[in-house]
Amino acid sequence: MATDPDLFSAITPEPQPSEVALALRAQLNHWAHQYYVLDEPTVPDAEYDRVFRELQALEAAHPDLVTPDSPTQRVIGAVMEGLAPVRHTVPMLSIHTETDTEATGAQAFDARVRRELGLADADPAIEYVAEPKFDGLAMSLRYENGRLVQAATRGDGEVGEDVTHNIRTIRQIPLTLPSGVPPLLEVRGEVYMRRADFDALNERQREQGGKTFVNPRNAAAGAVRQLDSNITAQRPLSFFAYGLGAITPPAEGGPVFRTHYEMLQTLKSWGFPVATQVQIAVDATELVAFHQQVGASRDALPYDIDGVVYKVNSLQLQRDLGFKTREPRWAVAHKYPAQEMATKIEGIDVQVGRTGKITPVARLAPVFVGGVTVTNATLHNLFEIRKKGVRVGDTVIVRRAGDVIPEVVGVMPGNRTGYVPNFQMPTACPVCGSAVVREKGEANHRCTGGLFCAAQRKEAILHFAARRAMDIEGLGDKLVDQLVDANVIRTLPDLYRLGLTSLIALERMAEKSAQNVLAALEKSKQTTLPRFLFGLGLRHVGEATAKDLAKHFGTLDAIMDASVEQLLEVNDVGPVVAQSLHTFFAQPHNREVVEQLRACGVTWPEGPVAERAPQILAGKTVVLTGTLPTLSREAAKDMLEAAGAKVAGSVSKKTSYVVAGAEAGSKLAKAEELGVPVLDEAGMLALLSGAGAGAGA
Ligand code: IVH
Repeated sequence: MATDPDLFSAITPEPQPSEVALALRAQLNHWAHQYYVLDEPTVPDAEYDRVFRELQALEAAHPDLVTPDSPTQRVIGAVMEGLAPVRHTVPMLSIHTETDTEATGAQAFDARVRRELGLADADPAIEYVAEPKFDGLAMSLRYENGRLVQAATRGDGEVGEDVTHNIRTIRQIPLTLPSGVPPLLEVRGEVYMRRADFDALNERQREQGGKTFVNPRNAAAGAVRQLDSNITAQRPLSFFAYGLGAITPPAEGGPVFRTHYEMLQTLKSWGFPVATQVQIAVDATELVAFHQQVGASRDALPYDIDGVVYKVNSLQLQRDLGFKTREPRWAVAHKYPAQEMATKIEGIDVQVGRTGKITPVARLAPVFVGGVTVTNATLHNLFEIRKKGVRVGDTVIVRRAGDVIPEVVGVMPGNRTGYVPNFQMPTACPVCGSAVVREKGEANHRCTGGLFCAAQRKEAILHFAARRAMDIEGLGDKLVDQLVDANVIRTLPDLYRLGLTSLIALERMAEKSAQNVLAALEKSKQTTLPRFLFGLGLRHVGEATAKDLAKHFGTLDAIMDASVEQLLEVNDVGPVVAQSLHTFFAQPHNREVVEQLRACGVTWPEGPVAERAPQILAGKTVVLTGTLPTLSREAAKDMLEAAGAKVAGSVSKKTSYVVAGAEAGSKLAKAEELGVPVLDEAGMLALLSGAGAGAGA
């Protein structure tokens, strides 16, 4: 039976443009939620862009179909003449802050809540919700019939500012909500900037010669209060929901929340970002644990927090507890030590680093920041000082987060009284008196003293001895300090001239440790060309470049004699590296150091690449275990890898060889159990020279 075409088209009519627009918006909103809120993109960007353009075209053809909440409208910014005041229907409160820096702040809060509720010790524990205290700015989002109609800052808590035009540009904030939400809904939360977004923004500002921001909170606050939302749209903002303002339940009986946690989960299901760290705590001890756990992972979070917030979970108990002045009795903020504080710069010193970099350092009036008392903070270089406009006597903001070196992030305006001269870089190195220079295109000044400069000497020796360089075990910074300060070591070759007597003469150096150091030095003499090159600490020559150079030239002499043009032929070596290498080896005193090291017995396999390292172990897996008699673990690994072997950490049936030294343990046993061939150091060297037994398993 044939289908009646008229009947068919009556069943599936051509969709109306308005319906298409609706469908496209729903699709785009769905994808945007997955991308921005859940962080789980489900379609390629190009597909999103294609549908986005389709909607744009449709709206261009039917301007009457454009709605303010269309995804296309986020990017078309409105420009305001000023920010209009908004009176909050439900005031935006602040939270009482527990000043106690101890973890027990939670217990004090719990005790207060129980007392205010008239509970006895025997009564059951109170359930709480623990949340991070986001370091951004509070925002109230008003939705009417599921559409965002207004966004307002907190202001004084009663009256804020209308920033709707800017908040629309934040992709994490839904412009429309699913059907069935309360007809009036005010969602409260924090607008903030993720650290990575903040860094990228500052990088961009720097490139474009714009002003940089002191911290993510300031950047976010500035972005939110722009009059021109096109500017806000270029500042990557994020949002976390943490509460409600005004709400009217839908007439047909919609959500009536019982607990704070339930409310947050519902907000999440409506498309709002809620922090994953939010947790229920069944009693105060769990709050204490939360405070510690979040505190420990604070620096690893992708955004700044300045504490945690504890809230009574039951909304009924929240109502029972009520408010005191302008703070709820059912919530408390428990802060962490501030990571930024203001203090005064008493002077500016300079420090000389390993590569000769001269770093200006601010001497500060002592300030407690990031949990410790700080008296020095880096100013990075002269450009940063000029850019931030820092002068001695200024009150500045100092930041110390985690183990990162404290830094001066900016000047507090309006604190300077009278004229203070601009800081100038010294023209002579404060450590050795050599000339201080700044290369073209470089922000940093450096000392030209090289190994002659004691500051660089210590660092140069430490770098030479490092595990990834010559791997001299036991030669750490304390010992190097002693050796250089006592003038026992002035140049790298002096290391190999050390004797037992001069070592034992050092304070706190027992004969046994001295012997260990000498043994480690002896062992380090057998090395590889990349390690040696890397160990010399040449500017711009990291491990990878050292490997490339060794591979390309085969011998050290070839590298030392190479012209800039020849150096440029090496993989990844650009003009800066080539010039720096060439200059280094053109200095007679540097060649002298190399010659003396060789004379002391430092040696490595040399020769054209192909000859030196035929890939005789290609496809083989080797496991190293125990202590080898002459080679360090690192050196043995390098040699094996140079011959094409893969060096693995554990023994399996697929292991080709196990190379075992003294005190080999379970790996050796496992090899024997699986029948994997076991070699000693001599056996390994024989294998590498091509004289070893045939391939193993
Ligand atoms: S709840 C009635 N929860 O802290 C309690 N506030 O003084 C209302 N804040 O500027 C606030 N993270 O923006 C709450 N998880 C969180 C928060 C939080 C940050 C901010 C808030 C306000 C201040 C409260």
